[in-house]
Amino acid sequence: MTQHDRLLIIDFGSQVTQLIARRLRELNVYCEIHPFQKVTDAFLAEFAPRAVILSGGPASVFAEGAPMPPAGVFTLGVPVLGICYGQQVMMHCLGGKVERGHKTAEFGRAYVTPEPESLPLLAGWFAEGREQVWMSHGDHVSAIAPGFRVFGTSPNAPFAITADPDRHFYAVQFHPEVHHTPKGAKLYENFVRLAGFKGDWTMDAYRDEAIRKIREQVGDAKVICGLSGGVDSSVAAVLIHEAIGDQLTCVFVDHGLLRLGEAEQVLTMFRDTYNIPLIHADESELFLGELEGVSDPEVKRKTIGRLFIDVFQKHAHEVGGARFLAQGTLYPDVIESVSFSGGPSVTIKSHHNVGGLPEKMGLKLVEPLRELFKDEVRALGRELGLPESFIGRHPFPGPGLAIRCPGEITREKLEILRQADAVYIDQIRKHGLYDEIWQAFVAILPVKTVGVMGDGRTYEFACSLRAVTSVDGMTADYYPFTHDFLGETATRIINEVRGINRVMYDITSKPPGTIEME
Ligand code: XMP
Repeated sequence: MTQHDRLLIIDFGSQVTQLIARRLRELNVYCEIHPFQKVTDAFLAEFAPRAVILSGGPASVFAEGAPMPPAGVFTLGVPVLGICYGQQVMMHCLGGKVERGHKTAEFGRAYVTPEPESLPLLAGWFAEGREQVWMSHGDHVSAIAPGFRVFGTSPNAPFAITADPDRHFYAVQFHPEVHHTPKGAKLYENFVRLAGFKGDWTMDAYRDEAIRKIREQVGDAKVICGLSGGVDSSVAAVLIHEAIGDQLTCVFVDHGLLRLGEAEQVLTMFRDTYNIPLIHADESELFLGELEGVSDPEVKRKTIGRLFIDVFQKHAHEVGGARFLAQGTLYPDVIESVSFSGGPSVTIKSHHNVGGLPEKMGLKLVEPLRELFKDEVRALGRELGLPESFIGRHPFPGPGLAIRCPGEITREKLEILRQADAVYIDQIRKHGLYDEIWQAFVAILPVKTVGVMGDGRTYEFACSLRAVTSVDGMTADYYPFTHDFLGETATRIINEVRGINRVMYDITSKPPGTIEME
């Protein structure tokens, strides 16, 4: 358990609840998101929050079984901020009235103007008379609860900002956490200041605390860690090594589907720079052998996932007597999101992970990054002295080049792909674009095309370049390279890589495409 003051966000299923956590982390405030079903009075007592935020959500407070917080939220004596549905919940629970939308529904940009009475929550707001906010509500508050007063109105929301300042209850109809409420961060800053947060959730403090917790959890037992060379598992490994030294052994499974020079980079970094005990499991023959003749994307993914677990287990055995498995699980992976639609979502791709291993091997998990977002993991990596070139790396999928080689995988295709990818990334770096792009790679297409080079005919593979901008990989847009850049890159690839005579640029966004080809 953390020693910091904690803020509890009760999630009612808004699409943007994670952004609330984001804004708070930027203020160095520790917070956790928990779905409303889980937050009982007993939970509240144990969590002991210094403040509570009630998120937005798609429900109507008067619908049957509408999501509600436990009554204890309003008797804890701590500041509460209700956002959108959270505001409606507060009014509903505290004696106000909420009505169905129709003419008063608002979606998108709106402008809030202040009332004469000032409110500390709004310090820094309204310097220009009104503030832009982002609304997204069907229902609206029609009568505020006793004790509340109005501090801001919009044309369609006479109760855009309401508060009972004596009890530190605040309720707003708009979403301060989104980009389109430009002064929203200021509102959160005021809220946490009013709640008395010290803002001491820094990376430096986190690192020391994480090290202490790892030592406490592990004692003198051995820990194994699956190292992929990606940022998350690398930061986890270095942090754990700092905590327990040689009690940690990393296992790096080389499935033969890595990029040019990748295995060497990982080995040099961890073995030579950090002196972390590392097993280099070169199992490329096994993986490529089993993948021979396989062209179905799901069969590829499942084959790789199965072999990975077998191989990891085999090599982990060499460590002898490990009791813990370390993983670079991040905060977004552990947030329990609230589903109102019910029913399982469709599986688009079977993502590769080492799920199931801990039970199979009787291991307990060490997950020191569970409370962090990706950019916080990068900040921690910097704190631990990992080089920038490593920290800023684009994500690379577990199944590696297998899913960038649609159709059948051959060693020849993999070699061509590695060379082309290295030229492409080199181009991106040379033009100073690497950090602007979320992920970039080459895929080798399962077609050969006719070309003419010199005076001769060629019949070689076509490849496709991909570069996307994204925040979290869930949605993505293609990167708008200049024509000059694309022309120069295509020329370099065809000139420098034997086996490719045609280059395409993939301009599909996600959705409808996905980032990887398979
Ligand atoms: P897609 O292709 O689903 O990819 O749009 C979204 C992001 O996830 C990465 N990706 C994976 N990462 N194991 C991983 O660790 C996987 O099996 C996997 N498949 C895709 C992909 O590179 C992109 O960043």
